[in-house]
Amino acid sequence: MQEKKIVFLTGSTGFIGAYVLHELLVQTEACVFCLVREHNNVKGLPRIKENMKKYALWDREFEKRIVPVNGDLSKPMFGMSETEFGRLGGSVDSIYHCGAHVNHVFPYLQLKAPNVSGTQEIIRLAVTSRLKPVHYTSILGTIRGQWESERRLTESISPGKQPVANTGYGQSKWVAEKLLYEARERGVPVSIYRLVEVFGDSRTGIVPDKDLFWWVIKTCVKESAVPDVSLYFNITPVDYVSKALVYISLQEQYTGKNFHLVNSTFSSWRDFYNYIDQFGFPVKLLTYRQWHAMLLSKIETSGNDMLFPIIFRFPDPDSYEKSGGESYEDMPVLEQENTRGALKDARIQCPRVDFTAMSRYFSFCIEKGILEKPSIFLSIPAAVKQTTG
Ligand SMILES: NC(=O)c1ccc[n+]([C@@H]2O[C@H](COP(=O)([O-])OP(=O)(O)OC[C@H]3O[C@@H](n4cnc5c(N)ncnc54)[C@H](OP(=O)(O)O)[C@@H]3O)[C@@H](O)[C@H]2O)c1
Repeated sequence: MQEKKIVFLTGSTGFIGAYVLHELLVQTEACVFCLVREHNNVKGLPRIKENMKKYALWDREFEKRIVPVNGDLSKPMFGMSETEFGRLGGSVDSIYHCGAHVNHVFPYLQLKAPNVSGTQEIIRLAVTSRLKPVHYTSILGTIRGQWESERRLTESISPGKQPVANTGYGQSKWVAEKLLYEARERGVPVSIYRLVEVFGDSRTGIVPDKDLFWWVIKTCVKESAVPDVSLYFNITPVDYVSKALVYISLQEQYTGKNFHLVNSTFSSWRDFYNYIDQFGFPVKLLTYRQWHAMLLSKIETSGNDMLFPIIFRFPDPDSYEKSGGESYEDMPVLEQENTRGALKDARIQCPRVDFTAMSRYFSFCIEKGILEKPSIFLSIPAAVKQTTG
């Protein structure tokens, strides 16, 4: 029988945090202390509950094992008194740090407090009262420099000497990972899970509304226009990421290592065009230049600044034409030796983001009225249709 432990989780009101919380509740018997900020007068537990319901993850049995802890990552000791912080450090057995201000527009200085100082406070908690492991969700972009020079990226690669990220967010994640490396060298058991494009739930088709890649797909469907472009994406469904992360975190012999929780294959943009077409959405192929102009005008008219980073993913037409686009051979090989080893006895595999998976995401959006049903659409294939709760 598993010993009842206490784990500390940040980010439970966010996307990945909701799934990690769910997996902690399902895969362990632990009690989960969740760091939450009050938002619009809504307190911790109702926020966590609402968020889990949004992703069809809530079960009323969970309530007794979730303990909201009021606090803010950007404040020293999360805004707690020394006594409260000390008590927390003494109660907790392990830490899952999924909280961060995910904003691809803000400069580094605006993100430093939650993402960098917040991670420093996590390290402080890890060494307060007794040493405890830290499990941290990072980005593959921390090793982006090596990506440009090396074809194979092993999990043991450490972040380069300087960040190559072109956003304050990427830079803040690089500094945070550097700090965790430093803590690891000084004896703190730190596991780092590097993620790329974490996508919706492959079982239910639920995609978070703010997902950028999904916003591009939705725009293509709504505007009936898709670019003829050669680009590659690494799309990893969140259910795999969270299941794998929690399972790996429970394999003590793997504590203190890095893991690439990514899809082992990159998907071509052309595959996504085919899925849209195959599903029955009428789309015409545009040149990249035409499509890019359409995308920019949509971003402008939407008034949503948060969409701005899409232009980092879809380069400007001049540079695209100059480079001739990406080829599959340009993509790095993302090695997963630790991940495979830690998961060898588990039945946890990254789902393929193929036509069946994409159909599930489309069906979810149709059910919710986000996308219109294509007129030639007959019925949702049984393999695709699942209840979204
Ligand atoms: N999504 C991806 O594709 C992806 C890819 C690579 C890595 N990651 C990493 O995975 C983690 C989770 O990402 P996500 O997509 O789930 O982000 P998200 O949906 O934006 O969630 C962020 C979470 O962090 C919390 N948070 C932000 N600032 C805070 C503060 N000052 N104090 C306390 N909590 C704070 C948020 O709380 P509020 O609800 O109160 O704002 C929310 O719970 C992040 O570390 C991110 O860098 C994500």
